[in-house]
Amino acid sequence: MGSEPGRTAAEVRRALRELRYLLTGLQLGGLADWPGSAERIAHNPAVENPTSGGPISLGASPLEAEDPGVAPAPDGEAILKEDPGELLSEVRTEMGDCRRCRLHSARKQIVFGDGSPRARLVFVGEGPGFEEDQQGRPFVGRAGKLLDKMIRSIGLEREDTYICNVVKCRPPGNRTPAQDEMEVCSAFLFRQLKIIAPRVVCALGSCASQTLLGKQKSISLLRGKRHLWHGVSLVCTYHPAYLLRNPAQKAAVWEDLLEIRSILDANAP
Ligand code: URA
Repeated sequence: MGSEPGRTAAEVRRALRELRYLLTGLQLGGLADWPGSAERIAHNPAVENPTSGGPISLGASPLEAEDPGVAPAPDGEAILKEDPGELLSEVRTEMGDCRRCRLHSARKQIVFGDGSPRARLVFVGEGPGFEEDQQGRPFVGRAGKLLDKMIRSIGLEREDTYICNVVKCRPPGNRTPAQDEMEVCSAFLFRQLKIIAPRVVCALGSCASQTLLGKQKSISLLRGKRHLWHGVSLVCTYHPAYLLRNPAQKAAVWEDLLEIRSILDANAP
């Protein structure tokens, strides 16, 4: 019987890596601060007076496909990655002092996105909260601290990833963004994703998942399944803020994180 020493060694390395992630995950999962105590993140629905959003003709429409297996290379539509940082800056410039929807009126600043323009993993949240609006960076509050831990639990640093939101301005009172606000702003999100062309996009929560998939299904139905966004693997999981309020879901999130890790490993550069 012929043996395959190269393959066996690779398998052993992979098994050791998985064991390390498992131990890290168990350790993090067992700690009181991952996914956190049951302390609540304030989420105060507030109703704003709608004003008409200006017309916009930007970006791509959502595209979803179930069960892609390992994602192929980003499709031909993806913008060549010569200088993704510069291309992202161009999109930010085009956004300008955006007043395309009513969210501009209560924001302190636009929270465009943060991280590596060449990231292999991009996280997409819902919209900036109070801290993000103050600092101009996504996920820097309590949910962000948890996201940092989630990222580290699969052997990455925040700086290795790119983090952004469906809407770039803080909805007043941290309310859920309205459909028309998401429609206008997601055009910028799609362009960010096309430029970065990561291996995996992780949608945090139902707002990001539904926006990227163009479906209204609940996050509990969307997570745990394989999806594609324009040829890129899309993993949907619970939002870290939800996880802070519902720590029982940490096992599910851990599974989703392992799925991300295995897609990245299967597509190692
Ligand atoms: N929640 C989000 O969805 N995005 C942030 O940037 C912060 C909290």
